[in-house]
Amino acid sequence: MMKIGLDVEWMVLTLLGTMTDSNCVSEKMENTTIEDKPPAAADAAEDFVDPWNVTSQSQTGIDYNKLISRFGSSKIDETLLARIEKVTGKPVHHFLRRGIFFSHRDLHTILSLYEQKKPFFLYTGRGPSSEALHLGHLVPFIMTKWLQDTFDAPLVIQLTDDEKFLWKDLTLEEANRLAHENAKDIIACGFNPDKTFIFSDLDYIGQCPQFYHNMMRIQRSVTYNQIKGIFGFGDSDHIGKIAFPAVQAAPSFSSSFPVLFGGRADLPCLIPCAIDQDPYFRMTRDVAPRLGYQKPALLHSSFFPALQGAMTKMSASDPNSSIFVTDTAKQIKTKINKHAFSGGRDTVEEHRRLGGDCSVDISYQYLTFFLEDDARLEKVRADYSSGELLTGFLKKELIELLQKLMAEQQERRKAVTDEVLKHFMTPRPMLS
Ligand code: TYM
Repeated sequence: MMKIGLDVEWMVLTLLGTMTDSNCVSEKMENTTIEDKPPAAADAAEDFVDPWNVTSQSQTGIDYNKLISRFGSSKIDETLLARIEKVTGKPVHHFLRRGIFFSHRDLHTILSLYEQKKPFFLYTGRGPSSEALHLGHLVPFIMTKWLQDTFDAPLVIQLTDDEKFLWKDLTLEEANRLAHENAKDIIACGFNPDKTFIFSDLDYIGQCPQFYHNMMRIQRSVTYNQIKGIFGFGDSDHIGKIAFPAVQAAPSFSSSFPVLFGGRADLPCLIPCAIDQDPYFRMTRDVAPRLGYQKPALLHSSFFPALQGAMTKMSASDPNSSIFVTDTAKQIKTKINKHAFSGGRDTVEEHRRLGGDCSVDISYQYLTFFLEDDARLEKVRADYSSGELLTGFLKKELIELLQKLMAEQQERRKAVTDEVLKHFMTPRPMLS
């Protein structure tokens, strides 16, 4: 009996061990053990989503319904939206209404707590790999601000400068500098100064034994084979990468922030992020009960696409694919006019006859994220699809909107002095 068990385990370990970086993506890891079936390798023709790469073979982008079933999360449906509105007494954010945030884990639990007037905290983050955030990064932060305002919840924001040191060609000092620069962009999104703690891993972890204790507890609970299965690491990846997921998991537990939460270990956590970060939190949810902690709840967004089209997400590592929050009005105009993939037809005559294709048009898709006025968005969609509106006009609408929004963001960023930054980055009590 014993012998058979070991053999099966050995076979599974061998299978997991043969998967390489490129073909291994783990799905539905929650509550699985290494005796369970090995993670499904992504078919070459399928969408690929992990924390470092997002690619689709389709011009319309990732098939999010398939992703929900592969990752084992739950769809945000009309019933859930109605419940959010009932519980909060206000209309849901347009990101929720339009299905931009489309998937969740345990959101009902958080809503029930809120109904019972019990506290929870929000946790999100940024890996500081570039001087400034791009528009895609703003998506989870805008949602998080809405959640903080709506639920009056404390928020922790992790800046994983350690992660960027491990993954990119950056020195520790440079990664840490970028973390502080990015923190200013994040503060400019308008977070509540009394209820938001932003921390760099390189600064904070050495000062907070409780955070480090949680990292240790997590590291001891996950095997090398599980990590390989979840993240697709290969045998030649350095051990920094293998240990890192515990760092991103630790803020999900309130005991990692003794000053903020008065030493409480039982405060539930809600994590808004794009779905590329889900592997970290599948792992976290898997270990939480074994450590006596609650599983964090999640709210997943879809990807803000690259300028070149929805086959990849906007990514800081490809500056041509991105519009940064620091871009000037002129840069915004040039990038959109030059790079934004168009769903327009080859000739004006053909466009008038067949209409534009919103399902692949990047300018239209950007408007769905940033143009809040539903009636205006619907008119743009109808006019573009019927062929009445040409690509040039659609791009102009987007350019003007983004120029205005980025000018406002840049104004708010100017107000973020070193003193303001220090305030946000100092641990302080946050439970009222
Ligand atoms: P990073 O810096 O890659 O991304 C920061 C946040 O932005 C989301 N994101 C996007 N959302 C929509 N469209 C896009 N094109 C796009 N690109 C990135 C990411 O999902 C993320 O929410 N390891 C993390 C940092 C981190 C973190 C966290 C993120 C640490 N703890 C907790 C979320 C929640 C990272 O490098 O994120």
